[in-house]
Amino acid sequence: MDYKRLVHKFLKYAHNSDLTMLHYFFRFSFALIAGVVLGSSGSATVGQANGQLVGSSVTLDYGTFNGFANASTGIIYFRGVRFADAPIGDLRWRSPVSPPTKHLGIVNATQFADACIETAQITVSPGTSEDCLFGNVFIPIGTHVDDKIPVMIWFHGGGYQLGNTHNAPPELIMGSSSRPLIFVSFEYRLGQFGFLGGTEISKNGELNAGFLDQRAALQWGSNGR
Ligand SMILES: *[C@@H]1O[C@H](CO)[C@@H](O)[C@H](O)[C@H]1NC(C)=O
Ligand SMILES: *[C@@H]1O[C@H](CO)[C@@H](O)[C@H](O)[C@H]1NC(C)=O
Repeated sequence: MDYKRLVHKFLKYAHNSDLTMLHYFFRFSFALIAGVVLGSSGSATVGQANGQLVGSSVTLDYGTFNGFANASTGIIYFRGVRFADAPIGDLRWRSPVSPPTKHLGIVNATQFADACIETAQITVSPGTSEDCLFGNVFIPIGTHVDDKIPVMIWFHGGGYQLGNTHNAPPELIMGSSSRPLIFVSFEYRLGQFGFLGGTEISKNGELNAGFLDQRAALQWGSNGR
């Protein structure tokens, strides 16, 4: 499977006083290994000022996302980046609408967004929501235009019933990698919202919406929006 231009527009326009854009391009193939999608042979052109990626703000068609850079870890963090409309109301049990249709304005992308509701939850506990189609993008500070950087895309486990991206901080894998990599993680609908079966759903909805969320997440960047 050929997966192009991950995080394409995500990095296409970095908002920085001294930073103009930039071409961002990924071309790589990936293999599914134990639930981990691992990019390789990547070629990236990212925000450039003196050959460095600087700043921690990017503007997509549907909003400006302000992340933050941590010099201690060497990572630029973008958390809670919406990649689809909220799958609520008429969109419950349906295909995700991605990229989002509403302009989000300026988004504080420093904190994780709500996680998807788990099967066993009988209430909507704090930090969880049906509105949970968000991703997180972690980029090494100092990424150069011509760097060939692998991209690891990670979907959490949990038997499609539980779990989220919050317990997968990027520091260890990015810090221990012998070469720089970009780490990306996505939420997807779980349990009764992502994988409810039955004829009612198949007649008036979409089966395996959680997988459609994963697919939308993978396509998010390559759509160039
Ligand atoms: C930056 O990283 C260091 C080292 O992990 C950590 O102690 C610190 O809290 C981080 N800063 C922020 C603002 O997250
Ligand atoms: C973003 O949100 C965090 C956590 O709520 C807050 O500490 C920070 O000040 C916010 N940043 C801006 C620019 O509002």
